[in-house]
Amino acid sequence: MDAFSLLKADHRKVAGLFERLESARGQAKLRVFEQIKMELDLHTHIEEKIFYPALEKPSETHDITLEAYEEHAVVKNLLKELSRAKTANDEWEAQAKVLKENVEHHVEEEENELFPKAEEALGEEKIEALGERMATEKERKQSRGATKGAGATKSAATSKSASKTKSASTAAKRARVSKKATGSKKRTGARKSAAKKR
Ligand SMILES: [Fe+2]
Repeated sequence: MDAFSLLKADHRKVAGLFERLESARGQAKLRVFEQIKMELDLHTHIEEKIFYPALEKPSETHDITLEAYEEHAVVKNLLKELSRAKTANDEWEAQAKVLKENVEHHVEEEENELFPKAEEALGEEKIEALGERMATEKERKQSRGATKGAGATKSAATSKSASKTKSASTAAKRARVSKKATGSKKRTGARKSAAKKR
């Protein structure tokens, strides 16, 4: 399967799920949302791992690919916030609507701008090969435990270690600032120890 057909099929599937989200009521809404999240997690994963890296270099697709990464980041944030909810209240509905609009915009840009430029830049054969790789990666991820629990644990662990790294570097910065006034010898020492910590 070529990359475009695969990604377009994903796009249609998610569009269908968003329609179901609108008509669902109560807790059923959250279950449809979980499905949307699962599909989008998989979709953004294969794009960011396989499709976008191939499009970053060619000048025709460079800028729009960087934009696509940013749009993914916005979508991922919304997914994360929405998935915290226990009930779908009015605020949740509003945020879900923003998610839908963001996804629609992104899909439109991909299909109407990125895909034609990608075809120009890479040619049919490479597009086909990228499609095969993405299909394989999708299967691998799905079978490897798209089990909800495993996914949640992993992402919690990742964000925990990310916040650890952040606080470590903040501490190192503070150390540098506080040592600044006490002479260059000590300052060098503080830098060294901060570097060691990292
Ligand atoms: Fe995308």
